[in-house]
Amino acid sequence: MRSRSLAVGTVLAVAVTACGTNSGNTSGSGTADPGGSGDGVKVGVVLPETATSARWEGFDKPLLDKALRAEGLDPDIQNAQGDVQKFATLADGMINAGVRVLLIAAPNSEVGASVARKAEAQGIQVIDYDRLNLGGSSKFYVSFDNVKVGELQGRGLVDGLAKLAPGKKPAEVIEIEGAPTDNNATLFYNGQQNVLKPKYTSGELKLVQSQPIEGWDNQKGGTTFEQILTGNGQKVDGVVAANDGLAGAVITVLRKYGLTGKVPVTGQDATPDGLQAVLRGDQYMTVFKPIAAEAEAAAKLAGALARGDTAAADKLANGVTKDPKGNRDVKSVLLTAQLITRENVKSVVDAQFVKASDICVADTAAACAELGIK
Ligand code: GAL
Repeated sequence: MRSRSLAVGTVLAVAVTACGTNSGNTSGSGTADPGGSGDGVKVGVVLPETATSARWEGFDKPLLDKALRAEGLDPDIQNAQGDVQKFATLADGMINAGVRVLLIAAPNSEVGASVARKAEAQGIQVIDYDRLNLGGSSKFYVSFDNVKVGELQGRGLVDGLAKLAPGKKPAEVIEIEGAPTDNNATLFYNGQQNVLKPKYTSGELKLVQSQPIEGWDNQKGGTTFEQILTGNGQKVDGVVAANDGLAGAVITVLRKYGLTGKVPVTGQDATPDGLQAVLRGDQYMTVFKPIAAEAEAAAKLAGALARGDTAAADKLANGVTKDPKGNRDVKSVLLTAQLITRENVKSVVDAQFVKASDICVADTAAACAELGIK
């Protein structure tokens, strides 16, 4: 079992109702509200990838655009497409364009920390958005309680095994984890192990292999999973997949071996593909992270920092998160997430995070009807 550095979330996570709609389909075409508190102050946002999860372009970008404009700010939101050098170049462009606040969700801590140092040297306030940059210097971090996200995944796997492999002892588990360069992947893993480790130790579960996937690359996740599965005689009882993108790749392999619907697979992000897989019974669970709440919290923080109102910014934080590499406590706003199985997929539609038409397709129509999703 790998040991992993621990960025401990020592914060009180607040329960959030997804205030406002979570709908990822807001248009970003509005103009900055000059009458707002932000007076059209420029704010830069650099997102990490697109291929690893539909969340970044489908949800974070439109919801951040809407929330930042509602604060009277003038956002410029770009995506590094998983390319570290592009991330740095995009950030440089925003620093040179004179943004007053910079929000970053970096592909790795090194580039995130170096961007933050450069921006702060120009007097720009930096917020680590969704991902904490270990060894960084950003004054604030806005995300979900990602250890708790991992615990929901661990619990989901155990519930799924009880349903799909009752009495199997030990139930054999393969773990397909996120990028080792993403501190969130470490936190998800640590949360999963809070639930699973005692069961590995007791012999209730047996770990076949745990494998982090560079860059969260879904393709790599699928081929790696297939290698481990065939190396284990095409046997597996449950799979931890760290997000819906990796879960989809795992399910494609399981289908090849006639194992879909028999082997619980975890996920996270409640993406349309992930929710469809849950409705089909191919994926046992996902985790719904109300990105509207995350975007609104980040926008409020950016607004306060843009106004130089550090007292207001400090008041928005609900605790601190330890950065063991930088040996510092980072003021944080951490939100809570929700375990989603087939039974409560409807709650994600009700939160307007996805529309029924995004997930009720030909082979999920019956499930939607049964579950009252319309
Ligand atoms: C994580 C993020 C997750 C997951 C992943 C892939 O940092 O918190 O939502 O999807 O990135 O992009």
